[in-house]
Amino acid sequence: MPLIHRILRLLSLLTVCVYAADVNVVFNLDNSQVAPDGFTRAGVIVNGVFPGTLIQANKDDTLHIAVNDALTDPTMRRSVSIHWHGLFQMRTGSEDGPAFVNQCPIAPGHSYTYDIPLNGQAGTFWYHSHLSSQYVDGLRGALVIYDPVDPHLSLYDVDDASTVITLADWYHNPAPGMEEIFLQGNDEPIPDSGLINGIGRYVGGPQVIRAHVNVEQGKRYRFRVVNISAYAAFRFSIEGHDLTIIEVDGISHVPHTVGGFDIYVAQRYSVVLNANQPVANYWIRGPMTLQHSSDNKNLDTNNVFAVLHYTGASDAEPTTQASGNVNNLLQEYQLAALINPGAPGGNAPADRSIDLNFGMNVNNGRLEWEINDISYLPPDLPTLLNIIANGFTSEANFTRTEHTFVIDRNEVVELVIHGSPNGHIHPFHLHGHAFDVVQSMQGPANFINPPRRDVVGVGGSTVIIRFQADNPGPWFFHCHWHLEAGLAVVFAERPVDQISGPQSEIIKQSWLDLCSIYKALPPDQQ
Ligand SMILES: *[C@@H]1O[C@H](CO)[C@@H](O)[C@H](O)[C@H]1NC(C)=O
Ligand SMILES: *[C@@H]1O[C@H](CO)[C@@H](O)[C@H](O)[C@H]1NC(C)=O
Repeated sequence: MPLIHRILRLLSLLTVCVYAADVNVVFNLDNSQVAPDGFTRAGVIVNGVFPGTLIQANKDDTLHIAVNDALTDPTMRRSVSIHWHGLFQMRTGSEDGPAFVNQCPIAPGHSYTYDIPLNGQAGTFWYHSHLSSQYVDGLRGALVIYDPVDPHLSLYDVDDASTVITLADWYHNPAPGMEEIFLQGNDEPIPDSGLINGIGRYVGGPQVIRAHVNVEQGKRYRFRVVNISAYAAFRFSIEGHDLTIIEVDGISHVPHTVGGFDIYVAQRYSVVLNANQPVANYWIRGPMTLQHSSDNKNLDTNNVFAVLHYTGASDAEPTTQASGNVNNLLQEYQLAALINPGAPGGNAPADRSIDLNFGMNVNNGRLEWEINDISYLPPDLPTLLNIIANGFTSEANFTRTEHTFVIDRNEVVELVIHGSPNGHIHPFHLHGHAFDVVQSMQGPANFINPPRRDVVGVGGSTVIIRFQADNPGPWFFHCHWHLEAGLAVVFAERPVDQISGPQSEIIKQSWLDLCSIYKALPPDQQ
């Protein structure tokens, strides 16, 4: 990087370091019409755009996100709650979003402001509705927290809004109707198209102009690739360019160069791309992989492209074959956390080891996914409210279907997640923590320098993760789409410390009010 750029960047960083800013964001939610793949439909839409507004902040800032719910369409959920995926939410479990774990939903016609101090956390995150399957209808977007002293700063020249790349699956029908069919015991609904940066095509639809990601020859770019998909996985690669992974789900990793990677629902990778190829247009490819054969004629799983456009090249699409073959595909187990590597507790037995076995049943015509024979059902009052207001501190206080484990102070917790019998891949997300993946889907066990992340794919084999109970709060652990069918548990981490003491929850009156307002709603507005 030229010296003058280095000096300018240093100066801008110094100002950033000094001021921990308040970042005010407004989310106006309505049922705007959108057409990301050329098919126009109403959605649950943030500020009139899909994906929703990009949130950007620095690591010591505090986010204040005012959510104004103006949803009116009866074919979709009208109440709302929003999860800020990957943020640790130290002392602010009330702002984490999952309906009936962390809050009551925000009622239509009402507003709520999420106040989230970032406490030095940086990386690539995303947000989405955490009420039922509402996020499928469009309430999803990227959230990037910059670190002025990022350990990988010397590896790239450009890292801004233009280098965020979102991958999404998209449906033409409202989610509640599709969910109902799924819960009657059918396969997961198949999307109509795959989108890169909110743009895609479906079979027989218009030739929507593909998203362009612009680069200048000679510069190095930090692309933040975010899978904001509901169900589909993508195999991401960029024609003619290697990708050096430096961040995984908000955690810096040892640089690792690959030809491409599979990215499951909710996962994120930061990759460095060196624009060192001849000035031209190159395919950015994200073919989707599905867990069962498609019954949706609109979907062409291979037709998920954007264009990497070098300044000076024509505006035309690349003319090369758009093959999705990837050499040197990432194997998750090859990733190593950069800072303070090593699983909590090393390879000694964990303080608390919990086996999780999946099962599936059809009960009275309803599909139920189970963990250890229990299908999760949301309680009437949020877990957090029951802890801080009603003194729920022991496992016996929660109902069986709340499937809540109480975790003690600073315990090393190991989750032994046994794969599903049919080998289908379920991406599991733990709230409130990043965890060490000591046994990934492939490769050997590793306690010394395993990958550290917040979403892990679990297929047919056993996956083992570890985290330390250093963040009191009610934290959900679930598979994305199958959450609706009960594939979830809750960790009530250190309930006594949530109630009082230096790590206790900061509770706002406006948060308490959410429940009385929501409970008074007629069912069709909930
Ligand atoms: C995003 O996640 C979905 C669901 O797991 C997956 O089908 C899709 O392939 C992922 N995208 C990428 C680029 O891997
Ligand atoms: C929670 O469970 C414990 C242990 O069974 C019991 O002593 C206590 O009364 C319960 N608390 C509430 C609020 O139900």
